[in-house]
Amino acid sequence: MTYIRNYQSKDRKDVINVCWRTGYMGKSAAGRFDDLYLFGLLFCLYYTDYEPENCFVAEDEKTGQVIGYILSSLDSKKQEEQFRKYMIRKIVLRAFFYTLWRYPRTFKVFWHFKERWDEEPKIPNIESLLEPYPAHLHIDIIQNYQRQGIGTELMEALENHFKDRNVTGVHLGTSDRNIKAVNFYQKLNFSVIYEGLSGNGMWPDTPEVKPLIFAKEIK
Ligand SMILES: CC(C)(COP(=O)(O)OP(=O)(O)OC[C@H]1O[C@@H](n2cnc3c(N)ncnc32)[C@H](O)[C@@H]1OP(=O)(O)O)[C@@H](O)C(=O)NCCC(=O)NCCS
Repeated sequence: MTYIRNYQSKDRKDVINVCWRTGYMGKSAAGRFDDLYLFGLLFCLYYTDYEPENCFVAEDEKTGQVIGYILSSLDSKKQEEQFRKYMIRKIVLRAFFYTLWRYPRTFKVFWHFKERWDEEPKIPNIESLLEPYPAHLHIDIIQNYQRQGIGTELMEALENHFKDRNVTGVHLGTSDRNIKAVNFYQKLNFSVIYEGLSGNGMWPDTPEVKPLIFAKEIK
């Protein structure tokens, strides 16, 4: 049995682990990115460290292990600013003073991410597109626990949290290749508000993917 609860600081390591085990387009990043902490800094630790009150986890009652999470930010513009202000420095220090020496292959992948982000074309009118959906989220559940209703429960917990805080809407990014995620968001009444052109994904060895932004009003 699993149950949903608020994130606690003791869950930080488990959250990094879930992030890494689902971080390659829904599959494990093992063998592709070996510095778990750098992976965490890039993809989940902003939320646990700067907006822990907006994060929920699913814990396996038997093992006490966190096997899934939903991480969110109530205000995506502020999140971007805070990410630049607090996370970039930590990422750069880790990458250049640790990953480069300890995991040179992973450093190459990190550098590839950086170049992809630098050259990523800006989505036209992105600000007005996202205005009705100021919050955003990331949800991940490790493989053995998927399709047991846990994702739906995590989403319900977050939507209730948003309602209590008068958040008007939420968005998230994924790609057409993540079929589980696309089905999941559609089932939960999210709609596609942006569909990009097919292109190379974030990872060095990925086939073409089409970026999608899903969004939902919170009522
Ligand atoms: C996507 C994800 C969060 C869904 O959570 P979940 O607990 O597995 O989903 P639920 O059990 O609540 O299922 C709800 C619906 O999601 C869709 N879904 C879930 N797993 C699926 C699968 N393996 N194949 C197709 N659809 C799937 C279905 O529509 C399902 O409804 P149904 O079972 O009635 O058909 C989870 O599968 C996951 O973490 N995947 C890996 C990481 C990931 O891709 N995260 C999202 C990044 S954008």
